[in-house]
Amino acid sequence: MIPPKTIQDILEAARIEEVVGEFVTLRRRGVNLIGLCPFHGEKTPSFNVNPTRNIFKCFGCGKAGDPVTFLREHESMSFEDAIRWLGKKYRIEIEEVARTPEQLAEQQLADSLFILNEFAQKHYTEQLLNTDEGKSVALSYFKKRGLRDDTIQRFGLGYAPDTWDLLIQKAKQKGHSLTLLQKVGLCNAEATRDFFRARVIFTIHNLSGKVAAFAGRTLSSEKSIPKYINSPETAVYVKNKTLYGAFQARNAIRKLDECILVEGYMDVISLSQAGIENVVASSGTSLTDGQLQLIKRNTSNLTILYDGDAAGIKAALRGLDLALEQDLNVRIALLPDGHDPDTFVQEKGADALRDFLQSESKDFILFKTHLLLEETKGDPIKKAALVKDIVGSIAKIPDPIKRSLYQKECSALMHVDENALVQELNKIIGGTLKKQAEKANKGGQAASDLPTDPYAEGFSTPTDVGFPAPPPPKTDKKSIHERDIVRLLIQFGANTLEQGETVASYVLHDLEDALGSFEHPLYAKVALETLRLLQLEQPYTTQAFIQHPDEAIRSLSIDLLTEPWEYSPNWDLRVGYPLQNQPMPELNFEADMRYSVDAFKISKLRKMCEETNPARIREASAENNLEKLTDLLLLQQKIKETLNKLAHDRNIVVFPK
Ligand code: UTP
Ligand code: MN
Repeated sequence: MIPPKTIQDILEAARIEEVVGEFVTLRRRGVNLIGLCPFHGEKTPSFNVNPTRNIFKCFGCGKAGDPVTFLREHESMSFEDAIRWLGKKYRIEIEEVARTPEQLAEQQLADSLFILNEFAQKHYTEQLLNTDEGKSVALSYFKKRGLRDDTIQRFGLGYAPDTWDLLIQKAKQKGHSLTLLQKVGLCNAEATRDFFRARVIFTIHNLSGKVAAFAGRTLSSEKSIPKYINSPETAVYVKNKTLYGAFQARNAIRKLDECILVEGYMDVISLSQAGIENVVASSGTSLTDGQLQLIKRNTSNLTILYDGDAAGIKAALRGLDLALEQDLNVRIALLPDGHDPDTFVQEKGADALRDFLQSESKDFILFKTHLLLEETKGDPIKKAALVKDIVGSIAKIPDPIKRSLYQKECSALMHVDENALVQELNKIIGGTLKKQAEKANKGGQAASDLPTDPYAEGFSTPTDVGFPAPPPPKTDKKSIHERDIVRLLIQFGANTLEQGETVASYVLHDLEDALGSFEHPLYAKVALETLRLLQLEQPYTTQAFIQHPDEAIRSLSIDLLTEPWEYSPNWDLRVGYPLQNQPMPELNFEADMRYSVDAFKISKLRKMCEETNPARIREASAENNLEKLTDLLLLQQKIKETLNKLAHDRNIVVFPK
């Protein structure tokens, strides 16, 4: 293991232009360097290297990051390998610290469980292909279900014969530990009975293709026998972070930028065999957060393909709000009665299924609204619950533009006044922000307190490597001032003002009251994260954002730092003094900061003045509440005055409404 201090030293020593320069020919352009992007084919260079920030960014394909990211993406190195490579290049000796005895034991246990699973998998396949019972009972079954030999191989299918303890006997012969066999769930506690007996076997791989677990399907139609049984959770099999087929589907999902989710093992296998390879299964349970994160790291587009029967759908709908939270675009398609994806594709072929998905898949929220609306059938109480439910789903969507589109469509669908919907929505979002703030204040793990691998994010095994970051959400005009504040915090947060205060602390104090009203969830998150960082002992740095453990914060930071931005024409006029060096905004960070803060305040005040407060005034007057009305009118006056003063100072015209 590499000690964290050494990792820090190496990260500080690594120069982006030198690292990239080993692989790409770079030319100087101003303070930056440019070259042909090594990640996508291009004839004119759009690949930028910024030595000041120590990051690269391609304006063609969007790839961006620090030296470690470059090595991971370009050379497919693991985090640790990248650190070792850099250590060598910069002659920083890596003094390995021994793993703690617990860590060693954990790793050894995992290794031996994988070995046992691998052994069992070979055994089951052997039984399927090379024994009389296997061939006549199981292989013929798979063939009858239309599976080819290469498919059986690719998915590691097998057979556990109808015997008491064949696997245990085999394991003994090979000198495997029966205690471990029991630990990995393949036999009972006394090691007298195999776990899987008289079942066809489906191998469950982890993301790097190692055998994590098995599922066994009975071939008997006896009702009292469970159709499927699964390996229990073990040190190498965490159910809610595993998706069946993810290993085989991973590349296709990335290439097609879409993941199809089905219910069953056979569905995954059949579709994949038919050439629709971007398919995974949640294996009969509703989706968990861990599974969604796994999908999100590959693509933002999730299509759910389920049988037409209602039982599965309700369960699926519950899981899907989580998908919205992850900013996944979720579509749903229900097969005609009597079909599951497996039978559909076997009967009609891959093209028919593709056509079906194309024409029949529906946006998830609209689908849910339709489905639930049918159930309410004019019952007002049920309908109120429905509205709450739908609004709850919409509130989970981080992108405000998408949210407002859904507001419109759903209020029309449900015949509910859009304003009522928005009010309900704001209540929920307000509550969430507050919770976020509380959580942030309690302080999670320190961001600059670098873990060994700041990129690793809850994979099922420690050897798995992350996927490249998905593109950050586009900004809408509405959040532009919030974005600018966030840029300030990241870019200049550590700079010191004349009075000795840092920019970050100045901005956050100045905007204290407005912090809760950040509308864009990611920007709100960064603002809160800044607050948290300030409370820590460590120095506050731009680097803490570029290397942040949170993927979304990391890519936003890089985006903000590399955004080709320019001042608006009257900038110098508004700021009060002319700019010195146009292309180097760093020199004017103080003026920049004051301008951005004021612009932010103006935008918030305008909103209060034009929307929030008038709404409250209308409310008070409808209620005939004179006292409240007077207060509100006075407040409105105050807001207007402050707004006008700020706007006047900044030479910004605030249009009267
Ligand atoms: P299905 O009953 O739809 O089975 O369960 P299937 O996948 O279509 O299998 P075939 O086509 O009949 O062979 C869907 C999924 O639910 C989980 C399994 O993951 C299954 O693939 N399941 C089902 C269980 O875990 N246990 C069960 O007893 C039944
Ligand atoms: Mn089926």
